[in-house]
Amino acid sequence: MCGISGIVSSENIAKDLLNSLRCLEYRGYDSCGLAVLKDKKIIVRKNIGTVDEVNAKERLTHLMGNIGIGHTRWATHGGVTKENSHPHLSMNNQFAIVHNGIFSNYQELKEELVDKGVKFLSLTDSEVFAHLIEHAYEVCQDVEKAFIAALQRVEGSYGVAVLSYHEPQYIFCAKKDSPLILGLGEGRNFIASDINGFLEYTNKAITLDDDDYAIVSKDKYWIKNIATGQKVRKKPFTIEWDVETTKKGGYRHYMLKEIFDQPHTAKQALKIERSRIQGLAQMIQQSQNCYLVGVGTTYYVAIVGQYLFAQFLHRHVPVISSDEFHQTAILSENDMLLAISQSGETYDTKMAINYAQSFDAKTAAIVNVMGSSISMMVDQVIMQGSGPEICVVSTKAAFSQMLILLRVVIEVARVQKYITDDEYTVFYENLNDFPTILEATLNEQSGFVRNIAREAIHVHNWLFLGCGVYFPIAMESALKMKEVSYMHAEGMPAGFLKHGTLAMIDDKINTVVFVPPPDQKELYGRTLVAIEEVKARGGTVFGFTFDEDKKSEQLLDRMICLPKVHYLVAPLLEMVMAQLFSYYVALDLGRNIDKPRNLAKSVTVA
Ligand code: F6R
Repeated sequence: MCGISGIVSSENIAKDLLNSLRCLEYRGYDSCGLAVLKDKKIIVRKNIGTVDEVNAKERLTHLMGNIGIGHTRWATHGGVTKENSHPHLSMNNQFAIVHNGIFSNYQELKEELVDKGVKFLSLTDSEVFAHLIEHAYEVCQDVEKAFIAALQRVEGSYGVAVLSYHEPQYIFCAKKDSPLILGLGEGRNFIASDINGFLEYTNKAITLDDDDYAIVSKDKYWIKNIATGQKVRKKPFTIEWDVETTKKGGYRHYMLKEIFDQPHTAKQALKIERSRIQGLAQMIQQSQNCYLVGVGTTYYVAIVGQYLFAQFLHRHVPVISSDEFHQTAILSENDMLLAISQSGETYDTKMAINYAQSFDAKTAAIVNVMGSSISMMVDQVIMQGSGPEICVVSTKAAFSQMLILLRVVIEVARVQKYITDDEYTVFYENLNDFPTILEATLNEQSGFVRNIAREAIHVHNWLFLGCGVYFPIAMESALKMKEVSYMHAEGMPAGFLKHGTLAMIDDKINTVVFVPPPDQKELYGRTLVAIEEVKARGGTVFGFTFDEDKKSEQLLDRMICLPKVHYLVAPLLEMVMAQLFSYYVALDLGRNIDKPRNLAKSVTVA
């Protein structure tokens, strides 16, 4: 769960390499480092801390050289120390390596290398690769051959990149179950764990597949298969994201920017070609069982999908957290799996897809990052087009996924005549109006939400409640609160409360309730009962409500009252405002909002 980057150019690369690491920092950020090659000498500088902190300590931008590799780490094997950070050098300093993934057989390899006299400087699994390649080179005197020999010794997952003073014009890199992409520039080429690593410099990219390796110079590249050594032909693709979307654009945090991006994100989701939505809709119709998977936020997105399927298609779709999928799912070739993933790299979700494929089930995914592993593993993919989501916690990507699921479901509903053509048109009219309403609501309510959040920062325990489709919205909102504020927050169905959790209610716990519009009578009635239950036990209740909801107004201690919108988009509007609420609580608590402690954006490990 780290970021790898590399640049080969005819000019000095240190500044751009550092900048590239900054753009990948959201993948992991406990330490980082660069290796730069000049005059047949590899210089490695690394340390613990964020990219900017390490730069301040190690003066990374002062490094001179036209070729280099870099790494930003999120520790798995070996603690957060300077020695464990990457790049790692081989014993005779002939090779420097950076690695993302886990070499599962590293212990055996380490013992073997130690027996040969290698002194390890770190506790990582990665360091073995530097020594393996140096030892192989001693035998064959050929960097490419030594690289392949080292790759053939390691098991597990890797995105790996190597610098060697024997071949000072090339970066050697390879991947297996961990992403690696080439960026093709003018007179310089790039490698990175994902396109954010070079988006600022080029929008032309090539994705490496598992078991590919590449040799990259400033103006050429060769991609080959590790086992056969045969050249692999691949067409570059063009990245359609605007580089400006990777900037904070005047906002204090990416999270805030990404919350405010959502009206635009909604437009992008609504622009996805209808034929693509129909393609997925058709696959779902033809499937016997359609499983939905995601993990963390995307699990809650999948549960939103479950409610939509039930509501509009009268169809139950099983939703399973990706990490548990293989434990309970029993598929056949007539079934399908729909995976939701922002990064397209989440290990657990990739494993769920593999598992479904092992039954010959069809697979589809909703993914944000182009060229990502999941986007290439599945039979059908819908690219969200939400633009880069830099903040570690997901806001706009999850929001877009929900809108896309909504579009897919109403597409099936129309074909299967659960809704009429007129209803379909009304739904789309409401969806198309939504970005404008959302934008106005964000602008008008932001100050008010900020004030309410400020009053709440002393609260250490939160309950988030919702009924029906507002239940996964409550779960997701509780997760947001945990992630950014580090406060204890629990989400649950409002009706579940009285079955145990009610015992916790006192004046120290605050409850947040997602109240549906009053015309959603059944849901609304049940939600109000839960509010009463909490109030009757002396609890404090915050609520997200809609205009003209007098009953809630009388019950709630604090409310964030939103404009009346169509019931299709009402839960989404409340979710966005809850994101804002968590953001402001975290802001006043002085949290590291864009990079909360212990978290990384792409969880590419088990
Ligand atoms: C929470 C969050 C995570 C991710 C989860 C899946 O804010 O971002 O829970 O949703 O790690 O990641 P993706 O969507 O990249 O598969």
